Amino acid sequence: MAQAQVERTFVMVKPDGVRRGLIGEVVRRYEARGLKVVAGKMMRISRELAEKHYEEHKAKPFFPELERFITSSPVFAMALEGRNAVAVVRAMNGATKPWEAATGTVRGDLALALTPNVVHASDSVATAQRELALYFTEADYVPYQRVDEEYL
Ligand code: CMP
Repeated sequence: MAQAQVERTFVMVKPDGVRRGLIGEVVRRYEARGLKVVAGKMMRISRELAEKHYEEHKAKPFFPELERFITSSPVFAMALEGRNAVAVVRAMNGATKPWEAATGTVRGDLALALTPNVVHASDSVATAQRELALYFTEADYVPYQRVDEEYL
């Protein structure tokens, strides 16, 4: 089979992950897997940004709680790059509902509740492009080579 395409995906450690001191634990997993952090920032999400980001959920009953939570304290937003990055990160994060997430995944190891489920990641390449554009500009991406890239 041909090598998978290098993709860029959007990932965010949510307010619960930040306040629980889990930024390092979460980023460590992605880096150890071979994903490259190409942009990252600590930030507070505004209501306006929350509504854009979670546009598809705006009419859902859980949206008010989600909006309150995601704007409640800072998040750590990042762009990760690597082969099949979108699917790999989703698999590493585990099921959205942490009680269904497999042990070994971020949520399966670190979360129990649905809204504060530690991380968010884009669910497709198209979504990744849309979400990355909400959080980062071209100037935010910092190119470099990992020393282990020949194996990744
Ligand atoms: P996330 O991947 O960031 O996408 C939407 C978020 O809404 C989800 O993770 C959960 O944190 C939150 N959420 C709250 N209730 C629900 C629900 N019933 N179904 C899906 N997501 C929910």
